[in-house]
Amino acid sequence: MKAYANVTRWCFAAILVAVSMDAGFAQSTPAPRPADIESYRTTIEPLFMRGRGGTMPGFASCVMCHTWQTKLRFQLETPATPAGWSAEQTRTNFEMITKLVNTASPETSRLLVKPLAPAAGGLGHTGGTFWPNRNDAEYQTVLKWIRSLPADRYVPAPEPALDFTFFRSCIQKVFQNPKEGQIHCSNCHGAGQMGFAPVPAAGRKEWDDAEARRAFAVMTRLVVPGNPVQSRFLLKPLHPDGGGSYAHNGVRRWQTQKDPEWQMIASWVRGEKTGNSCS
Ligand code: HEC
Ligand code: HEC
Repeated sequence: MKAYANVTRWCFAAILVAVSMDAGFAQSTPAPRPADIESYRTTIEPLFMRGRGGTMPGFASCVMCHTWQTKLRFQLETPATPAGWSAEQTRTNFEMITKLVNTASPETSRLLVKPLAPAAGGLGHTGGTFWPNRNDAEYQTVLKWIRSLPADRYVPAPEPALDFTFFRSCIQKVFQNPKEGQIHCSNCHGAGQMGFAPVPAAGRKEWDDAEARRAFAVMTRLVVPGNPVQSRFLLKPLHPDGGGSYAHNGVRRWQTQKDPEWQMIASWVRGEKTGNSCS
């Protein structure tokens, strides 16, 4: 009887060890430090609510776009009250925001380079430019906050590099050939911030190198490397029933993500290199 009790106790202990080891694996990322959530709540979150004098890109408050635009990675909770977010919502927002910072290299954080003017090293942002340069007070506030976090804690996985040759030989063709009955992407996306489909100049049918590079630069701004389903380029022209954006003032080129063309662009976004052999 005593032996049996011992075995039972031993088994129980073994199970406890196994369970706590499991829990150890599940929690490979430690819980955020309460002080970090608090500093986020007091210094960063209010910036997202701040009115900026308009409703257009560069003048609208961040929450105007970043609470409802589904599928964006930067998506804040809808504030519980006009004054702002509940403590629980702040915690959810914090989890999301820390995916947009890089504590190992603060200046490269997407949270900093999206609203920053491209002339000052910003990436370009559909929501517009909010910080003319890196001396901007708000930019500095965000940078200081990112630096206050543990340096090895919020570091994004490296992103795959996007292949220019693949883009030039396969993807750009997509904009040359509109679907039956649809107008060219170039009609609306030939130039400017959204100009990923410039019309080749001087009567040429193909783009020259400079034009292709420009298109590549615009297009890479509209994708999240490694992550097709959060890439705006793959969502805007995709039908909402197939997981696309609710709204696009242009055409829907793909009905579902199974469309071979969608799949091809997705493989480019994942960083595949096929050279110039298009599927
Ligand atoms: C007019 C709408 C609009 C406003 C206002 C706006 N954004 Fe955006 N933002 C977007 C859209 C659309 C995207 C996705 C396309 C892109 O990356 O440019 C985006 C992307 C981003 C990203 C990249 C997210 C990712 O997944 O990497 C960040 C960071 C960002 N915005 C920050 C801000 C901040 C900070 C503000 C306020 C100062 C702001 N945005 C205001 C529309 C907006
Ligand atoms: C009739 C004009 C029109 C056509 C044609 C059109 N679009 Fe658009 N597109 C727009 C407008 C306007 C916007 C900005 C408002 C919005 O997001 O719907 C936009 C936005 C976009 C965006 C997001 C840009 C950004 O800065 O965030 C993408 C990506 C896009 N379109 C892809 C395409 C593709 C691919 C095609 C061709 C298959 C296409 N569009 C055809 C008018 C058009």
